[in-house]
Amino acid sequence: MFPLERLARLAHLARRRPLLVAGALSGTSADGVSVALVRIRGAGPLARVELVKFGARAYPRALRASLLRAPALAAPEIARLSLEVADAFVRAVRSVAGRGQRLDLLGSHGQTVFHSGSRGTLQVGEADRIAEGLRVPVISDFRQRDVAAGGEGAPLTPYADFVLFGRRRGRAVLNLGGIANLTILGSSLDDVRGFDTGPGNMVLDGLLQAATGGRKRYDAGGRLALRGRVLEPLLAWMLSHPYLRRRPPKSTGREEFGEPYVRALRRRAPRARLEDLLATAADFTAACVALSIRRFVPESRRPGEVLLAGGGVRNAALLKALRRRLFPARVGSTAEAGLDPLAREAVAFAILANDALAGLPTNLPAVTGARRAVPLGKFSLP
Ligand SMILES: Nc1ncnc2c1ncn2[C@@H]1O[C@H](COP(=O)(O)OP(=O)(O)O)[C@@H](O)[C@H]1O
Ligand SMILES: [Mg+2]
Repeated sequence: MFPLERLARLAHLARRRPLLVAGALSGTSADGVSVALVRIRGAGPLARVELVKFGARAYPRALRASLLRAPALAAPEIARLSLEVADAFVRAVRSVAGRGQRLDLLGSHGQTVFHSGSRGTLQVGEADRIAEGLRVPVISDFRQRDVAAGGEGAPLTPYADFVLFGRRRGRAVLNLGGIANLTILGSSLDDVRGFDTGPGNMVLDGLLQAATGGRKRYDAGGRLALRGRVLEPLLAWMLSHPYLRRRPPKSTGREEFGEPYVRALRRRAPRARLEDLLATAADFTAACVALSIRRFVPESRRPGEVLLAGGGVRNAALLKALRRRLFPARVGSTAEAGLDPLAREAVAFAILANDALAGLPTNLPAVTGARRAVPLGKFSLP
């Protein structure tokens, strides 16, 4: 093929409407790959996005274990992990989309193995391998360009939240993945704010995994946490975490709230019952959200309505703590705005890919701290 033909095909694709775009990611929980297939008409803030299919596929156990050890691994192992994660993405997209399904483009966030804003961020899941496996154009590595422009490289979903949930002052979207990210919607894109509030499920999951030797990954339904009571002295120590005082733009990850943090927590309360530790972690998670709204969101912008998304919506203890801590704001789910709360992040990466194809910037400088708005994502052509 004449080399420019590849680019001409891409330009042709960019003009095709509607596009069938998949978004795929594995979040900080490293539980597996979430895939959303969406039909998109147009691009930019006015794009119309319709969810066609959504599904999640768990990682093989050994792969997940390696991913959680990633910060301690050497280059050869990271290189291999990147290929294994890519293969898991290929399988997940194939399985969720189904045989014979047309697919024009994939936006892949990959799997974060290290994230520290200006000190670097690393996502694995080699996009060239995914493009080769699926034979579709893949846009990936969305964080790097924002970091290059001086930003945190995160969070990236506030732009997509604006596309999905509209120009609504007084509305916020809170994603409860491993980390919790808050988007404050606004009347224009420039008005949107967002940052990571702290852990979402990460401390809860970490406590349960430590107590069960990794046999259980999460407290199903939050049932154990609901039976516990909050350990006030431990909560007070948790609330002194320096991340809570840091002003946005800010983002966090496993580096701050992962295994070492959970070990420190257990050392401070060696005789505490698991139920009580979980109840305390749920309340801490909710308190991080409430405190950061009070500290960092001007009074006129505080949300009256918080729509939840992410796996944490299934944790009743977390929901209960959020309702109490965020009162009088009403706590609901993105389902009320027409989107499956589990699909929201994967849909966001489909939107980012669609806009990358259109050449539009998708980082929000007021959110990530970047010097300017830039188009995000790298292209891997099939
Ligand atoms: N039935 C459930 N009960 C309680 N928590 C759940 C349930 N299902 C999922 N979760 C929580 O959701 C997390 C996964 O959420 P997800 O949105 O995929 O996060 P991430 O984006 O970090 O991968 C799990 O690690 C777990 O903590
Ligand atoms: Mg996940």
